[in-house]
Amino acid sequence: MNYANKIILGDCINQMKKFPSSMVDLIFADPPYNLEKDYGLYQDSNSPKDYIKWTETWLNEIIRILKPNGSFYILNLPKWSLHHAVYLDELLYRQNTITWDALATPRGKIMPAHYSLLFYTKSKTNYTFNELTSKHNWTHCARATCIKQRHSSTLPEKSYSDIWNNVYRVKHKQKRQFNHPTQLPLQFMERIILTSSNKGDLIMDPFIGVGTTAIAAKMLERDYLGIEINPEYVKLCKETLSQKHFTNNERFFIHQKFQ
Ligand SMILES: C[S@@+](CC[C@H](N)C(=O)[O-])C[C@H]1O[C@@H](n2cnc3c(N)ncnc32)[C@H](O)[C@@H]1O
Repeated sequence: MNYANKIILGDCINQMKKFPSSMVDLIFADPPYNLEKDYGLYQDSNSPKDYIKWTETWLNEIIRILKPNGSFYILNLPKWSLHHAVYLDELLYRQNTITWDALATPRGKIMPAHYSLLFYTKSKTNYTFNELTSKHNWTHCARATCIKQRHSSTLPEKSYSDIWNNVYRVKHKQKRQFNHPTQLPLQFMERIILTSSNKGDLIMDPFIGVGTTAIAAKMLERDYLGIEINPEYVKLCKETLSQKHFTNNERFFIHQKFQ
C-alpha cells in the first residue's frame, strides 16, 4: 500500500499497527495534553498513570515505523515531557530538548509559559539535519572566549538555538483557521520539517488535528501521512489539502519566508 499523502480517520494505535516497520523519515506527535480540552470524541481527562501508559503504547509504534535514519519530535507540557524523556532515552537518541516559549493557560502560582519539544533520532549520528540559515531562532554565546574565537575564525556568528521564542501560538478564536482547540501555527511545523527532512521525504503525524503538519509538508514538497480520530477534523484537513494553491489565510501564520 502507498501511504504517501493520506489522512486516515481512526485511532492512531490501531492504525499505526497496520503500517510496515521503518517506513517514515520524520514523525511529529502533538498528542492531547490531558488538559480536559474538548476534542469531541477523545476524552482528554485521564489519571496520570493511564495517560502515561497510553502514551507509551503509541510511542512504541512510532519507534517501530521510524526509519533507521529517521527523526522524531514530540511536543507536550513540560510535566509530561519528563515522562516521555525517561521512557524514550532508553530507546532513541535525544538530540535536543527544545523550549517553545509560548503562553499556556494560567495555572498555579507561577504562570506556565513554555512547552517542551523533544527531538530524538533512531541513529546517534546518521540523520537529516539542515541547519536553517537565518531568520529563525539564532543566538550566540556571549562568553568572552567564544566572542574572541568567532572573530578569529570562520565559526558562524550565531547558532541555531534550542529556545524558540519567535513562533507565536494560534491563540484567538477569530484568528483560528478552524474551530480546533489546539491548532499549531504553520511556522512551527515548517521549522521542524525544514530542519529534519528533505524534499520527497515522508512526514507522519499520528494526531494530525486539522492538518497543520500535512499542510506544512505539502507546502514544502514533502509527502505526508496523518491520523486523526475526529471525523470533523479529518474533513477539514482533507478540504484544505485538496486545494491546489494555499490561500493567504493558510499562510496567515507565516511571519517570515523560510526558503
Ligand atoms: C493537540 S491536538 C493536535 C493538533 C494538531 N497539531 C493541529 O495543529 O491541528 C491532538 C489531536 O489528537 C486527536 N486524537 C486524540 N486521540 C487520538 C487517537 N487515539 N488517535 C488519533 N487522534 C487522536 C484529537 O482529536 C486532536 O485533534
